[in-house]
Amino acid sequence: PQACGVVPEAWRFDCYPERGVVVTRELCEARNCCFIPASSSPPAPGRNGVPWCFYPPGFPSYSLVSVNATDLGQTGTLVKMVKTYYPKDILTLQLELLYETDNRLRVRITDPSESRFEVPIAVPKATEKASNPAYSVELSNEPFGIIVKRTSTGAVLLNTTVAPLFYCDQFLQLSSSLSSQYIYGLGEHRSSFLHDIHWNTLTMWARDVAPTELTNLYGVHPFYLAMDEGGTGTAHGFFLLNSNAMDVVLQPGPAITWRTIGGILDFYVFLGPDPASVIGQYLEVVGYPAMPVYWALGYHLCRWGYGSSNATWDVVKNMRNYGIPQDVQWNDIDYMDRSLDFTFDPTAFSTLPDMVKDLHSHGQRYVMMLDPGISSVQPEGGYWPYDEGLRRGVFINHTDGSTLIGKVWPGLTAFPDFSDDVTHEWWYDNLKRFHDKVPFDGLWIDMNEPSSFVDGSTVGCPDTELENPPYTPGETHTHLSHLTSSHYNMHSLYGLLEAKASARALKRMLGKRAFVISRSTFPSQGQYSGHWLGDNRSHWKDMYTSIAGMLTFNLLGVPLVGADICGFSEQTEEELCVRWTQLGAFYPFTRNHNSIDQKPQDPPAFSPRARSAMKQSLLLRSSLFPLLYTLFHRAHTHGHTVARPLLFEFPKDVRTYGIDRQFLWGKSLMVTPVLDPGVDYVVGYFPQGLWYDYYTGDSIRSKGEELRLKAPLDHINLHLREGAVIPTQRPNTTLFVSSGQPLHLVSSLSEDGSAGGELFWDDGESIDTLETDQYAHVVFTVVKVRSDHYRPGSSDHYRPVRSDHYRPVLRSDQYAPTTTDQYAPT
Ligand code: GLC
Repeated sequence: PQACGVVPEAWRFDCYPERGVVVTRELCEARNCCFIPASSSPPAPGRNGVPWCFYPPGFPSYSLVSVNATDLGQTGTLVKMVKTYYPKDILTLQLELLYETDNRLRVRITDPSESRFEVPIAVPKATEKASNPAYSVELSNEPFGIIVKRTSTGAVLLNTTVAPLFYCDQFLQLSSSLSSQYIYGLGEHRSSFLHDIHWNTLTMWARDVAPTELTNLYGVHPFYLAMDEGGTGTAHGFFLLNSNAMDVVLQPGPAITWRTIGGILDFYVFLGPDPASVIGQYLEVVGYPAMPVYWALGYHLCRWGYGSSNATWDVVKNMRNYGIPQDVQWNDIDYMDRSLDFTFDPTAFSTLPDMVKDLHSHGQRYVMMLDPGISSVQPEGGYWPYDEGLRRGVFINHTDGSTLIGKVWPGLTAFPDFSDDVTHEWWYDNLKRFHDKVPFDGLWIDMNEPSSFVDGSTVGCPDTELENPPYTPGETHTHLSHLTSSHYNMHSLYGLLEAKASARALKRMLGKRAFVISRSTFPSQGQYSGHWLGDNRSHWKDMYTSIAGMLTFNLLGVPLVGADICGFSEQTEEELCVRWTQLGAFYPFTRNHNSIDQKPQDPPAFSPRARSAMKQSLLLRSSLFPLLYTLFHRAHTHGHTVARPLLFEFPKDVRTYGIDRQFLWGKSLMVTPVLDPGVDYVVGYFPQGLWYDYYTGDSIRSKGEELRLKAPLDHINLHLREGAVIPTQRPNTTLFVSSGQPLHLVSSLSEDGSAGGELFWDDGESIDTLETDQYAHVVFTVVKVRSDHYRPGSSDHYRPVRSDHYRPVLRSDQYAPTTTDQYAPT
């Protein structure tokens, strides 16, 4: 085509995205696309470059042939005259625009003649059209496209006319311009927090793989947050409600392409206008995260391969001897008898029930792992979970009705179908029967992508269209669907549905808030579980990338998140483990976990100096529990983030947009961890304003600059932003004990002598304390009453005000709370 040359490289949309194909001019032109070898140098390994084969202007797409007003917006008909090069085009489509709220637009494009798979999560149903929307929608007829603008600024947030729309049975593709290069979210991937938009393909398909760049990981979250162009501080969000395997392509236009192989196109635009409001609006759709049980926020210790209950117990006792905080002890699969769910090894773990009782008597909790695969090869009558599961028909079947068998840790296994309530009941019964023997408190659900060691099943995969889609998104395995036909659609929902079954069962059984940590996740996960970032390595880089992972999951409504502290696979080293424990003390979910055959990496395993530094950071975390708990309350009730990127609080400061080596708890407490070996300092960015060193109260008045901070091995830098009042408590070795200790306030006065904060407090474990009015919510305000009451010492030196405050810096293994540590403007 003539017009090929006019398309700038940044705006070339890939017409030949199939992997592993050397795209020639011939192949490209057979698709009626433009072929121009790119001028720039070849892309880095694993990355795409500028597509050589791209859509020419005017490439056939849909036309909008009619539009009608509806109660909630508009509906229209889209028609395509020319078939595409993929099979089964759906040539007539229905468009629905739903002006759901003033800040939320929903768009659905469906097949009016046949129903297609839709993601089975509950989303709000609007009943009235938004009266004063913050967005305007323009429709382009030929080619069809949607243009969404922010009314207040005129900024274009979405423009889908930039490339043709595809809507085939197994290939749906929608492209749009992006308002800027500042894109966040799109989990689960390992990357910097701010995504690189230079031809970056992010695949979504739940997959068991150790966190690696440029490949799809355990969870699927087709949501992004975008900062609008120009440093205005406004932001918006986009959510594609689709669970099929997909590729999301970011390109420098800036533009995005959603390429999914099933379902429908059903998406939301959230108008913010600030980043925190975008997240709140997104979570209104997929659900606010659950309020965690208090001990979820303590220190958790775990490893694969303690080997016995007594060895596990020894670790707990050792922690107690050193007075190191520990709230929860975990066991990995090695507690099981031959890796069978709902059993424990009668020899090596014979004392497990006693250990759990001992934990309880010390105000500690016990969590253990469950994998979804249920052994299918035990002697009949010998393994209730399988026998009963078969009887109740809870397992996933082949299309011919026979049980589908895969392979996980116990060998051959069947997989419960958690989309069915019958399965939830069976899961509950299993948990209850096991709980009668081992009174565990929470669940760790792993391998739920679901992961299987054989491809598809023991008999492979059927040779169907679902197994051989015309387009295969990256790294979906050789065979895509693995299991049955509904798995084509449901695969990435497995972890969500298992978490839902698990949380329901725990609540019912224990009558308390459920504690569940899941490896695989999907939108709305936060309602049921937290997440750990999977099988990282004991590398400095893995510690660094965990911050981006943690921040991203906070955007995705799963604030209870953390990485394996000190690293899972490979051998950790002392300095790394100390630094990681310091950082990990500020993960919302704080767990040290280690792989089998690695040397112990719990705090007592290290030198006194290292141990002491770890203890200090854990006591510090524990002292901040009232703040953390209050932040979780905000997440639960308003969809706020807990661990928060700096840009959320300083959205007009473009220098914060790429920061992922520092973060905040809430709006005021800034954490600047050391992420490199062999250093005793760290460089951190301080957005404009007054900041206080959390330990000394020394103030820094920043113009928005990078500062070099001292960071000896026993120190993690913490700064309080001006204007905060944060609640703390005197820490102890468990949160259970600490909860009886006095609460304190730390306040960082702003220039005008004011500050504010809040505390949410309840019994820490009852369900729905908010709804049943069983809580206290205290709001703190510091105001300058009379100028003679407020006398700053030196001209520009303020210190935070502390009331009977625990001194965060402890220098020895011996915990010695100090009674007063008053900083007041003197
Ligand atoms: C998986 C989990 C890991 C666990 C191991 C054994 O790799 O991600 O955390 O230790 O399985 O159960």
